[in-house]
Amino acid sequence: MRVPVPVIVASENGRRGILAAMPLLRAGGSALDAVELACRVVEEDPEDHSVGYGGLPNVLGEVELDASIMDGATLRAGAVAAVQGYGRAITLARRVMEETPHVLLAARGAERLAAELGEQPQDLRTEEALRRWRERFLERGLTPGATENLRAVARILTQPLNLQDKLYQAARPDTLGTVNFLALDAQGNLASGVSTSGLGWKYPGRVGDSPLIGAGNYCDNRYGAAACTGMGELAIRVSTARSLVLYLKCGMSLLEAGREALRDLLALDAGEGQYMNIVALTPAGEHAGFTTVPGKQYLFQSADMDEPQSAPRWMVA
Ligand code: GLY
Repeated sequence: MRVPVPVIVASENGRRGILAAMPLLRAGGSALDAVELACRVVEEDPEDHSVGYGGLPNVLGEVELDASIMDGATLRAGAVAAVQGYGRAITLARRVMEETPHVLLAARGAERLAAELGEQPQDLRTEEALRRWRERFLERGLTPGATENLRAVARILTQPLNLQDKLYQAARPDTLGTVNFLALDAQGNLASGVSTSGLGWKYPGRVGDSPLIGAGNYCDNRYGAAACTGMGELAIRVSTARSLVLYLKCGMSLLEAGREALRDLLALDAGEGQYMNIVALTPAGEHAGFTTVPGKQYLFQSADMDEPQSAPRWMVA
């Protein structure tokens, strides 16, 4: 039987994670360990304001993290949502998968589990993230953290998302980021990991697609793996990651499956400026990226390459 060449695929901000995880894959390590390690490297990077430590705060100035991990061999999955005070969200997600009978723990419950399992509590707010958080209010004539901001967000959430709103104009691409990793190991197993601090200035408790298995993350050894970055509200509504994998199961090529998953999403009544990106990897090691906005890239490295390379994502409009 042909031994697969390990490969790891990531969103554009995943370079450091790939560099950390590739030696592990080359040494015969598992795809699951690789995606966890890769996500954790990005979570610990204070320069990445979309993930983990240094992530952009919610409207109250609190950093809330979402993450999920999925094992393509068993279809087991773990996830945490709206976690405060613990930076290793992907590791916590894995511990939910491996050490509890559950798939998803949120907020206080996830924080309780983290404490019980001895995870180190951490203030996730960096000076730089707080400065950016304050500035976004001030440039709109709003007081950082004031209750009228909360009311502005609450009003918006009772309507279709409206990016014309004073506060939600903040939801430009620089306020939203996520990291995706998909890996294929030498045993032929696939795994997927996703981690994010979600939408900057979000309503407290807002959970995006990243910790929702099927929406922002899905992985099945038989067909492939997919993960998303972009406006989670869209991927949640059409189960984007699972859709792509299901289209593969139905016999579509990787290109057709990715395009079809984004066409489903583009049929939604999404407001201007809302976008979605997907990365995908098949059991044969074929990979691709898809996007609804021009100029987006993704990263990949197989074990026979010296360093990660970027490749353009297929645009679906
Ligand atoms: N895709 C990340 C989020 O919407 O939170």
